[in-house]
Amino acid sequence: KKDKVVVCRDLKEKIMPLLYSREDLEVVLWPEDRACERPWLLENIKGAAGVILVLGEKVNTEFLEAAGPNLRAVSTMSVGHEHIDKVEVTKRGIKVGYTPDVLTDAVADISVMLALMASRNVGETIDLVNRGLWPAFSWSPFAFCGPQLSTSTPNATRTVGFLGFGRIAKATLSRLVPFGVTHCVYSSRPTSKPDPVADAKLAKELNIQEVRRVSMDELASQSDVVFVLAPGGAETRHLINEDFLKKMKESAILVNTARGTLVDSDALAKALRERWIWAAGVDVVEGEPNVDQTHPLVKEPKCVVLPHIGSATIETRLAMATLAVKNLLAGLDGKPMPAPLIT
Ligand code: GLV
Ligand code: GLV
Repeated sequence: KKDKVVVCRDLKEKIMPLLYSREDLEVVLWPEDRACERPWLLENIKGAAGVILVLGEKVNTEFLEAAGPNLRAVSTMSVGHEHIDKVEVTKRGIKVGYTPDVLTDAVADISVMLALMASRNVGETIDLVNRGLWPAFSWSPFAFCGPQLSTSTPNATRTVGFLGFGRIAKATLSRLVPFGVTHCVYSSRPTSKPDPVADAKLAKELNIQEVRRVSMDELASQSDVVFVLAPGGAETRHLINEDFLKKMKESAILVNTARGTLVDSDALAKALRERWIWAAGVDVVEGEPNVDQTHPLVKEPKCVVLPHIGSATIETRLAMATLAVKNLLAGLDGKPMPAPLIT
């Protein structure tokens, strides 16, 4: 009897053959190009041996009970994994794979882009152009000016801050060094050990003055740009709140390319409206994907909002899909997954 594999998004002609070519598998594909409906998933997962899914699809007790005891491999096409109940999955001995590393560059690119877009009023000004309002503004000496991210002025300093200092944060930092960044401060989960030797080594490698782990208060008050790049989930919910935003510089930018839940949307909207900070750029918001013009951050002109496209490059999505399939097949075959989350 063939092993059933459920695939929650069509991975298209470049990737699906990796699955279809396996004669020992019965592939069940959600046929549409939108989020897989829960009742369809719960029905089709019955008796399955493996599943490929994405962020919206919760792997919880309901899902695992619907699947039954055949399920041995779960593969998520994402680096984030807060949609997976790790305790329940581990209890059942199911292997889980995810897609770190392959999306690091794409997300670092878009993080830099959002910092520039926010500081240079790109959201508001594109909107004016699209509405035919350019003639009303013309070129004006001090219109639409924002703080400059780059600097080559001798002795000037630029401090970038990171909430979470993993692979994507470091890749973002390295992109900003040629912009003139001199200092990097970051805040990490309280359980991780401070490593000033590694920090000094990184600063030397990047040829900047300092990389330093700091408290949340210092992160807020010292950074010209704060990049939010920590995992989502209950433990990190609203780490960026009114208290944090009030401590930031008036000229500062907030960028969130991690998870919407890390930032209290109402607090950020208030901070922008009342000019506690300069602007914000976010690729993720609370409540996504059910976001419309009434969302507090979409409504806010000083916030550039993108619809979670951080990893959306052709190269990266192909690499993520390929890795997701390889993880799944390794899990089914009883081999080590190339990118295991739970072994
Ligand atoms: C995207 O947000 C991911 O977790 O891969
Ligand atoms: C602006 O367009 C300039 O020429 O300075």
